[in-house]
Amino acid sequence: MAVLEIHNLTKYYKAHLALDDVSLKLRSGEIVAVIGRSGAGKTTLLRCVNRMIEPSSGRIEFEGVDIRRLGRSALREYRTHIGMIFQHFNLVPRQTVMENVLNGRLGHKSTLAGIAGIYSADEHSMARSVLEQLDLADQAEKRCDQLSGGQKQRVGIARALVQEPRLILCDEPIASLDPRSAKAIMDYLFRISRKMDISILINLHQVDVAIKYADRIVGIREGCVVFDGDPKNLKKRKVAEIYGCDVDDIHFEDSTGGDAMFN
Ligand SMILES: Nc1ncnc2c1ncn2[C@@H]1O[C@H](COP(=O)(O)OP(=O)(O)OP(=O)(O)O)[C@@H](O)[C@H]1O
Ligand SMILES: [Mg+2]
Repeated sequence: MAVLEIHNLTKYYKAHLALDDVSLKLRSGEIVAVIGRSGAGKTTLLRCVNRMIEPSSGRIEFEGVDIRRLGRSALREYRTHIGMIFQHFNLVPRQTVMENVLNGRLGHKSTLAGIAGIYSADEHSMARSVLEQLDLADQAEKRCDQLSGGQKQRVGIARALVQEPRLILCDEPIASLDPRSAKAIMDYLFRISRKMDISILINLHQVDVAIKYADRIVGIREGCVVFDGDPKNLKKRKVAEIYGCDVDDIHFEDSTGGDAMFN
């Protein structure tokens, strides 16, 4: 079943066409990587999906519901199903790991309970279990500004998971990390998606990482989808077209620094 269906999505920023008639589908539990050069429209696509920006035209359906028609409270409800993971983590630096993770529950609570920081015993135990899954249990009381980049991103994933999301949107989640931390983060995302049947739409700069982890790759050039298919079928010539460069300049290497894929 398709979790997300995007039909003929177009986005103009004033006169600038950022997305041009984009259509794509994401099935349940599928990892779809979006690749494309800087300015191709990857972030715009993700932001349209959670309606942080309004599309100019087209239809976006989440589990069969047209999200462009959602009113304020339905939109809030919709966003609780969608986790977001960012390049720069977007954590509250002075809060602890546990507090940051519990922030992921805010969409499920009344504003008052959220402001007062009142979380149920169930929410605390869910946060602890998610922290264990991400090997962060021993860091729960540490302030987030004392963590490494890789640890911060694991907190970002934990915060998304306590939302109990059906879809996670990741905007270049490993772009600020060293190769080893990047591999760890991709491995966590992969495992979570498989184990919990969560769909992931992920913007990546590294083609080799997309090939290694994604079930499908979508290549965007100047706002248009120019490839949508199995990573096995992504040939160098197509990568050159996506990035607007010469075929001889395309070199795949394992930029997550790993040899065995999922050990
Ligand atoms: N808020 C905005 N107002 C005007 N133009 C914008 C805005 N946001 C993005 N753009 C333009 O839209 C195009 C697509 O931008 P977008 O951020 O989606 O690209 P991207 O593929 O995510 O790039 P990067 O890899 O650098 O993150 C770019 O030309 C960008 O300059
Ligand atoms: Mg971007």
